[in-house]
Amino acid sequence: MTVNADSSTSIATSWRDLPAAQQPDYPDLEALRAVTTDLATYPPLVFAGECDQLRAQVGAVARGEAFLLQGGDCAEAFDQVSADQIRAKLKTLLQMSAVLTYAAAVPVVKVGRIAGQYSKPRSKPTETRDGVTLPSYRGDSVNGPEFTAEARVPDPERLRRMYHASASTLNLVRGFTTGGYADLRQVHAWNQDFVRTSASGQRYEALAREIDNALNFMKACGADPAEFHSVEFYASHEALLLDYEAALTRVDSRSGALYDVSGHMVWIGERTRQLDGAHIAFAANIRNPIGVKLGPTTSPDEALALIDRLDPEREPGRLTFITRMGADKIRDRLPALVERVTASGAQVAWVCDPMHGNTFEAASGHKTRRFDDVLDEVKGFFEVHKGLGTHPGGIHVELTGDDVTECVGGGDEIFVHDLHQRYETACDPRLNRSQSLDLAFLVAEMYRG
Ligand code: PEP
Ligand code: CO
Repeated sequence: MTVNADSSTSIATSWRDLPAAQQPDYPDLEALRAVTTDLATYPPLVFAGECDQLRAQVGAVARGEAFLLQGGDCAEAFDQVSADQIRAKLKTLLQMSAVLTYAAAVPVVKVGRIAGQYSKPRSKPTETRDGVTLPSYRGDSVNGPEFTAEARVPDPERLRRMYHASASTLNLVRGFTTGGYADLRQVHAWNQDFVRTSASGQRYEALAREIDNALNFMKACGADPAEFHSVEFYASHEALLLDYEAALTRVDSRSGALYDVSGHMVWIGERTRQLDGAHIAFAANIRNPIGVKLGPTTSPDEALALIDRLDPEREPGRLTFITRMGADKIRDRLPALVERVTASGAQVAWVCDPMHGNTFEAASGHKTRRFDDVLDEVKGFFEVHKGLGTHPGGIHVELTGDDVTECVGGGDEIFVHDLHQRYETACDPRLNRSQSLDLAFLVAEMYRG
């Protein structure tokens, strides 16, 4: 991997002249330039070879041979970069993955919304409280959540903090996933603090016992493969702030190709996927596996045009379509997209985001989601793919390892009047640990279906 001083200039010509939606309005462009110049000299957070490895694994998802589990916070926050919180998130994802691997008997590709998910696209540029209007909070990478004029001014120094927060998070993730903690023999340990208090924890415990038996049996037979002792875990985030992503885009010395080394996989959001916009032009230039969110207004022609731009070689694993239609629309909107894409010969990975089409405001003013709607969208996703003979490739969820009360429903039911108890999200409502595990069990049943 070479840090090529020219890389940001050469990329610049391809997207800087195009309209870029959702970018911060920095008052001091000199300060921005100073930060991005520094960022361009910082070490890569991930390596090109790791991105290639993930692309190959997403290729298996596209071919129907593996399942993608992508999850984490809606928005990470600088003050939540702590060992406890990162471990809790990882534990939840590892538990979900164990459930899916064992109960659905499918290899699971594990990708966190983690170590870089600090930026948020917003539907409204301003927020009004008690007659006072201020710019919206756009994530810790841009401005502060406090409702004051000072906090809401975009500060480019926050891009530097995003880099350092991502680096320390990723360092811990790498430690946890390769240092023995993710060893399959730890399936019980991930559940320890959880098992007595929740129905999903108990259900998980029963499954963990079965996994243990299977491992003991294999060991007795003389099989103890290295795959059981560590886990491949990848980092992803929305490539929203192009100044940051471009500063972290480097030329790979092996291949001469460009990689965005801020994360293994990046995705383009529903609000920034304009075909003639800067985000798609930026994504077209990098070799990372790319995701694109597709909302209910996406036409089949748009989906095909996105494939032409982002995956002209039709390479399985290069492009993942993350559909987020809403439970009431998925059965209606998804079939035409899948049919046309399949007929075109492209092999994309289809992943279901059952969160972003199902958000509503509770009477208390909390933004929330119903667990039943989340589940119903995933069900619709499976129905459509089964009906068309295509592969329901994965799920993309917003979750946390903490016992928050942000989404309503689930096995340990959370009611609308509970929402205030632990409502801690920096942006959208997340599934808590118990809801996440419930979802994994239900998805495993659908997959086996
Ligand atoms: C998100 O993933 O947090 C998000 C904003 O999603 P979307 O672009 O699909 O609205
Ligand atoms: Co979100």
